[in-house]
Amino acid sequence: MKYEPLSPSEAGALRRGLLDLYDRAARDLPWRRETDPYRIWVSEIMLQQTRVETVIRYYERWVERFPDLEALASAPEDEVMKAWEGLGYYRRARHLHGAAQVVRDRHDGEVPGDLMTLRSLPGVGEYTAGAVASIAFGVVAPAVDGNVKRVLARLFDIPRPTAAWLRRRAEELVDPARPGDWNQSLMEFGATVCTPRAPRCATCPVRTHCAAHAAGTVLERPAPSKRASVRQTEIAIVVLEHEGRVLLTRRPPDGLLGGLWAFPEEAPDELAGAYGLEPVGRLELPVVRHRFTHIDATYRPVVVRTSGPTPEAGPGARWVDASDGDALALPVAQQKIFAAWRATESGEAA
Ligand code: ADE
Repeated sequence: MKYEPLSPSEAGALRRGLLDLYDRAARDLPWRRETDPYRIWVSEIMLQQTRVETVIRYYERWVERFPDLEALASAPEDEVMKAWEGLGYYRRARHLHGAAQVVRDRHDGEVPGDLMTLRSLPGVGEYTAGAVASIAFGVVAPAVDGNVKRVLARLFDIPRPTAAWLRRRAEELVDPARPGDWNQSLMEFGATVCTPRAPRCATCPVRTHCAAHAAGTVLERPAPSKRASVRQTEIAIVVLEHEGRVLLTRRPPDGLLGGLWAFPEEAPDELAGAYGLEPVGRLELPVVRHRFTHIDATYRPVVVRTSGPTPEAGPGARWVDASDGDALALPVAQQKIFAAWRATESGEAA
């Protein structure tokens, strides 16, 4: 694809159009009142896979709990995961925690302001490095997220922009005087005006500069990529119950929900046997569905009541009672299963 550099007047018009809109209409979001690079970094990690409206309350709780980088770096992992509970994509939290420790131990506790060092931190990719460097440090660097990709694909009427093309356009466009505001103005514009399905072209301040608007292809830009296939999975879950407590195990560190606590996915009788317990009753709980990025999971939980001597949990496992569930970081589907089990405990029908 031939690359036409922008004329200075064209670049200037786009910058003015979007920055004026941003100055007039930017949402008042808590991290926008911040200058602390740590807090801006936290917000950018949370915002990567999660909607702004959801992020706000997590962000506010987070900065109360871990007000600065040192507080996060020295917090126990379980507490960090607990604060992330419900946000999904839990690897983000583990990386953020690890990266805070790297910054504390190798960078004198100061979040680095240059792209290269930022990118060396766990969980910090090109987008996050560009966002943090530009917003917190005024570095003239682009930050291309999904919104920005859509906006650029439309402005230049490119059906399937490559990563290299996007980077080049975005670099060319960054406002050298206000790089952080510029990047946020692009994201904001994508989230509020140049939206995926119902873009507000009639009120768009840059529509006269939009190639897709001129060509009538706005809704086809960017062209849909091949849909990643979603796998349907049925997962049998054992709620192994012994004297009012149930067994939770920590999932392996890599893979789906790595490192989080969950009910075991094992054959009930073998699991009971492994703990020296005798199954004495079974109760099916309602199925729980959860959609992950590429997996449509249907959990089929069965409570297996047991008798026998009180077993040790062993490493990576815990017996918890109905009141303990809130203390561990449980993924959303596991919370639902836990609540359904707790309801059976308190005498309600499942
Ligand atoms: N999405 C990612 N970063 C954002 C920001 N700083 N403001 C609004 N939406 C965003």
